[in-house]
Amino acid sequence: MSFIYLHTKNTTYVLCLMPAGKIEHIYYGRRIKEDDKALHLIESQKLEYPHSVVYNKSYGRETLDTLSLEYSEAGKGDFREPAIMVYGKLGYVNDFVYQSHRVYEGKALFCNLPSANPYNEKCTTLEITLWDASNQTEVILYYHSFYETDVITRYVKVTNKGERSITLKRVMSLQLDLEDTGYSLVSFQGEWAREMQMRIQPVISGVYTIDSKVGVSSSKHNSFVILKENGCTETHGDCYGFNLIYSGNHAEMVEVNSYDKIRVLVGINPHCFDYVLEKEESFISPEAVLTFSPDGMNGLSQKMHQFIKKHIIPKRFQGKERPILLNNWEATYFNFNKEVLLKLAKEAKEVGIELFVLDDGWFGNREDDTSSLGDWYVNEKKLGGSLDDLVKAINEMGLQFGIWVEPEMISKKSALYNKHPEWVLGKVGERLCEGRNQYILDLTRQDVCDYLVEVLTKLLSSTSISYVKWDMNRNFSDTYSNLLAPEKQGEVWHRYILGFYNVVKRLTEGFPHILFEGCAAGGNRFDLGVLCYMPQIWASDNTDAHERMGIQRGLSYGYPQCTYGAHVSTCPNHQTGRYTSMETRFNVAAFGVLGYELNLLELTEIEKKTIKNEIDYYKKHRKLLQFGQFYRLEQRKGKELYMIADESLTEGIIAYYQALQAPNPNKEKIKTYYLDNNKYYHIVSREQWIQEKDFGEHSKNLEERRVAIERFEAWGDHLNYAGFNLSEQTIHYQPGDTTRIIGDFGSRLYYISEI
Ligand code: GLA
Repeated sequence: MSFIYLHTKNTTYVLCLMPAGKIEHIYYGRRIKEDDKALHLIESQKLEYPHSVVYNKSYGRETLDTLSLEYSEAGKGDFREPAIMVYGKLGYVNDFVYQSHRVYEGKALFCNLPSANPYNEKCTTLEITLWDASNQTEVILYYHSFYETDVITRYVKVTNKGERSITLKRVMSLQLDLEDTGYSLVSFQGEWAREMQMRIQPVISGVYTIDSKVGVSSSKHNSFVILKENGCTETHGDCYGFNLIYSGNHAEMVEVNSYDKIRVLVGINPHCFDYVLEKEESFISPEAVLTFSPDGMNGLSQKMHQFIKKHIIPKRFQGKERPILLNNWEATYFNFNKEVLLKLAKEAKEVGIELFVLDDGWFGNREDDTSSLGDWYVNEKKLGGSLDDLVKAINEMGLQFGIWVEPEMISKKSALYNKHPEWVLGKVGERLCEGRNQYILDLTRQDVCDYLVEVLTKLLSSTSISYVKWDMNRNFSDTYSNLLAPEKQGEVWHRYILGFYNVVKRLTEGFPHILFEGCAAGGNRFDLGVLCYMPQIWASDNTDAHERMGIQRGLSYGYPQCTYGAHVSTCPNHQTGRYTSMETRFNVAAFGVLGYELNLLELTEIEKKTIKNEIDYYKKHRKLLQFGQFYRLEQRKGKELYMIADESLTEGIIAYYQALQAPNPNKEKIKTYYLDNNKYYHIVSREQWIQEKDFGEHSKNLEERRVAIERFEAWGDHLNYAGFNLSEQTIHYQPGDTTRIIGDFGSRLYYISEI
C-alpha cells in the first residue's frame, strides 16, 4: 500500500494505491500530516460480501462497490454512477488500473479550454496515469493544488493508444467519494429573471443530478454546488464546494449507495455526449474546482471568491476598478436615434457616469428582435452617421463608449442567413425551432469562428470602444452540424463550446484593453469558463431591487461581487411592476458592479440629485465595494445583512435590506462577526433621502426628507460578538430626529472604518 498526499495551506487530500491496481480515496478535509504507514486510514476488507462482485481474487476479496474510490468505471463491480464510460472492444466493460504518478511544481494551461492560472502563486500538480488494457486507453488524472486559496482543480485526459476507435460516453472531471455522515446539497436553480435561487435538500439514498442540457451552462442549474454536513451554518461546520470551468452542458451528480457512501461527480453532461477517439487522439475534460471549508458556507465562499479573483479573472482585470455605466436598453429598447443617445449621454455625464453603452438595435435593420443578427454592420441611418461619429461625440463629453453584440446568433431575416444557411446549427432543409426568432450559428465550424473574429475585429477597430456586452439569447435545439459526419454528431455540444472559446479568446486577447461583459439573456451562462475571458457577467435581466437581492445572494455563495453586473433601473420595475426606492435600487446594485439602465431624461430633479449622491459615494468606496471580501452576515425575518471588508479589516461597508415594513417593529442589532477584534471602529450610515410620497397618505409634505444619520464607535470584538443597536424604525409614521425610516423594500448602507 502506498499513499499520495496533496496539500493546500489548510487542507489535505489523500489517496492510497491498492495492490490490485485501483486507487482508494482516503481523505479530503482539514490539513493533516503525511504518514506513509497510516494503515488506519485504509478501509479494510477481509470478508467477502454476500451477493457482491470480487474485483480481483488474486489480491483479496475487495468489492469496489463498498469502497471510496478515486475514479471509477462500469463493468467491474462498482454499481454507482461511473466517472468514465468508454465504449470499445468489450462494449462498456472498462478496467482502469494505476500505472504511475508524478508530482511537480507549476501547472500547464490548456490550449483550447479556459483554465485556472496560478499567476506566480504556489501551485503543485499531481498526475496519475491509469491504463485500460482492453481498449488500450490511457487516462491521466490531473490535480492542481492552489496552495493559498485552498482549492484543488482537477481534469482528465483520455488518449486512445490502440488501433481501434473508441467512443467516450462519459468523462467526468472530478469524482469525490465520502462517507455519508449526513449531508445536504446546496444548489442554485432558476430561469430567466429568477436566476440563482438557493435550494437546500438532504442527500438521500439514490442519485440526484443538477445539470444543464440547454447547450450553455444555464440559469436552470448553476454548476456551482455545495455539499454541507448536517449542522453546517454560514459561520461554522464542514462543507465542500464544487464548480466547473465550462460554459456548456454540465452535470453535478450526487449519489448515496447502500453502503452509505456519497459520490459526487462533476463534469460535462453525459446527456447527448458521444465523443469518438481514433488512434492516438486525446480528449481533455474541462477543469473542475473543489474546495473544503471547516468554517461554514461563508468560509467556503471566501475561498471560492479568492480563487476566482486570483486565478480565473484575466490578470489585467484583477483589482482593476470597473467604470460606472449607463446602458440604454431599458431606457429606449430599440427605439432610439442619435439625438436621444446624445441627450442620454449628456445626462449620464452630469450625474457622474463614466461609460455609455449602446445596447441592441444599432446594426443591420434591427428595429425589433425579428431580424439582422449576423449582419454586424452599422445602421448609419438610425445612428445619423457613422459609429465613429457617435463615439467621438460621446468621448468628447468625457464618457467612454461600449457596445452590445450577440455574435453567436443569426436571424432568418438577415443577409448572413441568405448567404450561409449551412452555418446554422441544424440540418439544412429541416424545420428548425426558433428562440427569440433566432437560430444559433454552428461554432463547431472553423469558418464560422473565423468569420466572427474577422467581422468583430473590424467593428472593434473601427472606433474607440472600451467595453463590449457579449449577449447570447437562446437555448439550443436542432443540435446538428452540417459539416460533421453522422457518427460525430454526439460531439456537437462540446465542439460548439470549444468554438465559442476559440472566438472569445482571440477577440479578448486581440483587444486586451476592452472590458467584455458576458450576458446570456441575463444569467443563462454565468460560469467560470466565461469568467476566464470576461471579468464580469450581467447577472440577470431582472433589475427589480428586491428580486436582485435574492439573485445576488445566490451568486455570492460561489462568485465574488466583482463578477456580476448590477443596474439601477426605473420604477415601476419592468420585470415585476414593483416600486422600490431609488436609494434601495442603488444599495442593491452597489453590492455588484454598479451601472444604471433607465431613462435619465425622465427623472425628477430630486431623483437626479439622489443618483449624483449615490455615484459620489460609490466612487469614494469603489475599490472596497468591487474587490473587498464579501460576507453574508445574517438573513432572517425578511431582513438581510451583508458586509464587504478590505483584506486588512480597516474598512468595510454593511448593507441592510428589509423586505416588508413590520408594524410596531422589533429592536434590531447588527453583529459583524468578521471585523478585527482589536481594532476600534467608527460606523456611519450613508446619507439617504426618502421621498415622502413613498409613505402614502400620511404625508402632507411631498418633499424629500433626509433619513437620520446613525453613528457608532466600538471595538471590533463588541461589534463582532455583542453587535450594535440600530435606531428605531418608524412607528405609526413618527419620523423623529433619530428615526430610521426604512419602509417596504428599504435598505441602508453603513461605512465602517478603523479609528
Ligand atoms: C438580452 C439582454 C438584455 C438586452 C437584450 C437586448 O435580453 O439580457 O440586457 O441586452 O438582450 O436584446
